[in-house]
Amino acid sequence: MGVELKNDYPGFRLTVATERTVSLILRSAGLQHKELSVYLVTDEKITQINREWLGRSRPTNVISFGQPAQLITDLLGDVVISVDTARKEAEEAGISLENRLLALMAHGLVHLMGYDHEGPGADTAAFEKKEKELLKKVKGEKSMADLCINVDHVATIREARGGVEPDPVAAAVLVELAGADGIVVHLREDRRHIKDRDVKLLRQTVQTRLTLEMAATEEMIKIATEIRPDIVTLVPEKREELTTEGGLDVAALEHEITRAVGRLHDASIPVSLFVDPEREQVEASKRTGAECIEIHTGRYAEAATPEKEDKEFEQIAEMAALAADLGMQVHAGHGLNYQNTARLAAIAEIAEFSIGHSVVSRAVLVGMEQAVKEMLSLVKKGRIV
Ligand code: PXP
Repeated sequence: MGVELKNDYPGFRLTVATERTVSLILRSAGLQHKELSVYLVTDEKITQINREWLGRSRPTNVISFGQPAQLITDLLGDVVISVDTARKEAEEAGISLENRLLALMAHGLVHLMGYDHEGPGADTAAFEKKEKELLKKVKGEKSMADLCINVDHVATIREARGGVEPDPVAAAVLVELAGADGIVVHLREDRRHIKDRDVKLLRQTVQTRLTLEMAATEEMIKIATEIRPDIVTLVPEKREELTTEGGLDVAALEHEITRAVGRLHDASIPVSLFVDPEREQVEASKRTGAECIEIHTGRYAEAATPEKEDKEFEQIAEMAALAADLGMQVHAGHGLNYQNTARLAAIAEIAEFSIGHSVVSRAVLVGMEQAVKEMLSLVKKGRIV
């Protein structure tokens, strides 16, 4: 089940955005459990196909081949797209090639759903209505991921001298004014950076969303139910670690995590679980009742070679798709910076990024407004316009 995307266009490199949006189109049409093959070819190849199957000796942008109605199968059919024609059309319309390919894939899929806009029995109005609906849904679902900024390390600088500046509460105001979608803080058991006072004040001042990262301990659950952040992200915590080192082992701690999720839900607080991109962790997260996972992107961020990065990227993309299929929201974070975020932003299922250290580090040099805006522009690269 799923999508097979075949690139038969010599020298054309598929972008991650293209790869991922095909499955998003299927999901938007409610057909995620069906199979679809998409072939990207040259004008020459599509002319040949057009001649052979439809008796027309000219290039075209897209041709769909459905399954015979009597065949009961999960296969919807094949969509063949000419990259040459798509590129010309994109230039004429002043849009990106990715966006044109997306529109043509949606067009091809609407044909496979049984709608027709040419030939006998065609209902052009119904076809266009369905096509518009589908594109609107795809774009709506993946307009752009949110960017939430973790201000812990503003407090780290404060704690270097144990005084009152810089204040993470003031930093959060600047982050919001620069256009970020939320503020994140991690209240650690040892209070090494963020303090109880910070979380209380942030609850009163944050205008967007406040995410509280915390360990699933009795003490923290009590604090969360008093402060009532917009969402809690449960993370593992070790006293001696410099920063969160790995995801929560939900598969091993399912009983305890389920209890913590239940307690937070009783206080009407939604819960996200910070997990490594591994199937057993995602599936266990679903069973706990949490509505969201945050995928730990540390292994991707620290990959030593492009091959390792590709492998970690694929793993994150696959687990994001799995979580979305299970009906969960998907966030991602840890180790993300100005070099590695744009690639992840193309994963359609990731609805939110949580980024701290790199943004605070840049803010020290260029100011918070510029640091946040530069990161926002990278997250924006993954959007469909
Ligand atoms: N998400 C979670 C759950 C984290 O624990 C952290 C680190 O506090 C981050 C995201 C942000 O990581 P970084 O500071 O490396 O951007």
